[in-house]
Amino acid sequence: MMEESLLPMETKWNPGVPGIPAPTVGASHALPEGGKQVAAGAPFAVEARSFSFWYGANQALADISLTITTRQVTALIGPSGCGKSTFLRSINRMNDLIPNTRHEGELLLEGGSVYRPDQDVVLLRRRVGMVFQKSNPFPKSIFENVAYGPRVNRLVQGRRQLEGLVERSLRQAALWDEVKDRLEKSALGLSGGQQQRLCIARALAVSPHILLMDEPASALDPIATQKIEELIYELKDQYTIVIVTHNMQQAARVSDVTAFFYLGKLVEVGRTEEIFTNPKNDQTEAYITGRFG
Ligand SMILES: Nc1ncnc2c1ncn2[C@@H]1O[C@H](COP(=O)(O)OP(=O)(O)O)[C@@H](O)[C@H]1O
Ligand SMILES: [Mg+2]
Repeated sequence: MMEESLLPMETKWNPGVPGIPAPTVGASHALPEGGKQVAAGAPFAVEARSFSFWYGANQALADISLTITTRQVTALIGPSGCGKSTFLRSINRMNDLIPNTRHEGELLLEGGSVYRPDQDVVLLRRRVGMVFQKSNPFPKSIFENVAYGPRVNRLVQGRRQLEGLVERSLRQAALWDEVKDRLEKSALGLSGGQQQRLCIARALAVSPHILLMDEPASALDPIATQKIEELIYELKDQYTIVIVTHNMQQAARVSDVTAFFYLGKLVEVGRTEEIFTNPKNDQTEAYITGRFG
């Protein structure tokens, strides 16, 4: 536990791992100011405006205003119970499945309201893919796991197209070479890390714009974790990624922007390099240096 909390702040903000280039945090990636209007084609994938969320009487999110930029990796960090998963699940309305919940404020996806009454939730979840801490492949073949989404959404015509899409998705998830000779075997026979990459392939197969990852590597060993991190780095050319992680070094390695949540509030958001080297808020600093959480 301490190992991951002790950020090597005084030495270097981004220790890097072999094979993973340091995240680019340049001028072109400047964080948009909160509350700005979203114009058509604006680089915001998601924008929360004073967004609050309740489970019954328990308020899980309070007045969150946050913009998530297209084709960047945004890390959500903060102690357990601070609302990270609730925020993620609001973006694709997975919270709808939980009774007695309500929200206030606005949540926009590519400029359109996520919660507008005529929102097509199936379409929304196709645009916003999700990967969970515990990989959850279907008890079916590797092929069928990836083919399922395109098939039920009628995204392809015929076997040839479907096979092409399955291969492309598995390649994108950096899994193809490991499974191409066993596509008809059960997905449950894969290792934990392979199963997680299969779940990523399954999410990618329906061509989402945004990928939400809720602690995607926290159940994996270091090698499998590194593969997921490499993958995240490659995917951000094409996708907007929002990742929840408890591993501060991982947040520093993979993300462009980091948002620190505490007790349902967004305490601080900024370029990852700044958050980890020069946080403005004392609570942020205490958290990233392992003094609480
Ligand atoms: N399904 C649920 N029903 C009721 N309360 C929940 C549910 N999920 C989360 N909560 C509560 O909402 C708050 C935020 O939880 P969560 O979003 O899971 O935090 P985090 O992901 O940061 O650990 C906590 O107080 C938690 O107990
Ligand atoms: Mg969580």
